[in-house]
Amino acid sequence: MNTFSREKPASKRSVDEITGGRRLRRMRKADWSRRLVRENHLTVDDLIWPIFVMEGENRREPIEAMPGAFRLSVDQAVKEAERAARLGIPALATFPHIETGRRDRTGSHILDPENVTNRATRAIKDAVPEIGVITDAALDPFTDHGHDGILRDGVIVNDESVAQVTAAAVLQAAAGADIIAPSDMMDGRIGAIRSALDENGFQDVAIMSYATKFASAFYGPYRDAIGTKGVLKGDKNTYYIDHANTDEAMREAEQDLAEGADMLMVKPGLPYLDIIHRVKETFQVPTFAYQVSGEYAMIRAAAANGWIDGERVMFESLTAFKRAGCDGILTYFAPEVAEKLKAG
Ligand code: PBG
Repeated sequence: MNTFSREKPASKRSVDEITGGRRLRRMRKADWSRRLVRENHLTVDDLIWPIFVMEGENRREPIEAMPGAFRLSVDQAVKEAERAARLGIPALATFPHIETGRRDRTGSHILDPENVTNRATRAIKDAVPEIGVITDAALDPFTDHGHDGILRDGVIVNDESVAQVTAAAVLQAAAGADIIAPSDMMDGRIGAIRSALDENGFQDVAIMSYATKFASAFYGPYRDAIGTKGVLKGDKNTYYIDHANTDEAMREAEQDLAEGADMLMVKPGLPYLDIIHRVKETFQVPTFAYQVSGEYAMIRAAAANGWIDGERVMFESLTAFKRAGCDGILTYFAPEVAEKLKAG
């Protein structure tokens, strides 16, 4: 039989006895008090906008699995850079879509000073010098097998891949890139790129290392965006970090700092907040997260179905990065967020 009655409290102790009078809801009672005690803020200064560049003119190709994102010809990329600058977004990160005919075993087109990455950098810096340009130093858009390294007898050969990416990084700097972002996880690439940049007079070009890049299924839509989806043979498990590992990620971050990285990145983002937190706490250096294509696609898809409030989830997910310790976030939501922040 139920011995509780409405008249008698279920517990003899009052709430004030239980809490000792500490009532955390007091500061949550109104919008003004919540704003007053808010610990983390997302601002436009936190945003890096990844964009996809391609050959041609006046082209904007929608990316199916990334609603709201486009592959852009260089002239259109310049337009978007102008828009980003107007919105106050500090930097863009470019990723190239390379035509199939230009891809080969070693990704040699990355060494063409006139490839679409370098032309986009020059055009953007020419038109909008005040915006930061970050270039992706990795072979995968340029290889006919979709790997980030040179493939020989089924093996990704580290040192040759480093040499190729290092030469490409110098060309990217010469085109005007402000930050080189090596995303391939080859051993020794940060130190090699730092030395080569310095030897070629690019002391002021920074390196944002994809220091902790995990072997992840969240990159799916990106491979569609750069056209390597059906191309990639096998997986990237011999060079990206096993997604079950934390200590290994810390060793990668430590190593990249020792080799000369100016900024560290954790990728993917939201499923790896523990890594972000530990990296920031341990090294206290500029730390960034990449909210990758799959994370973006999931939010967009659920929102399109009416299953979540897309705008609120967008802001909540980005604020989570700040709470975890990020100094900034690479996100495909950047222009939308910047517009909403501006509107207030
Ligand atoms: C590879 C690279 C990847 C992304 C950017 N550069 C991962 C991959 O294709 O394996 C992913 C970005 C995203 O998913 O948004 N160098």
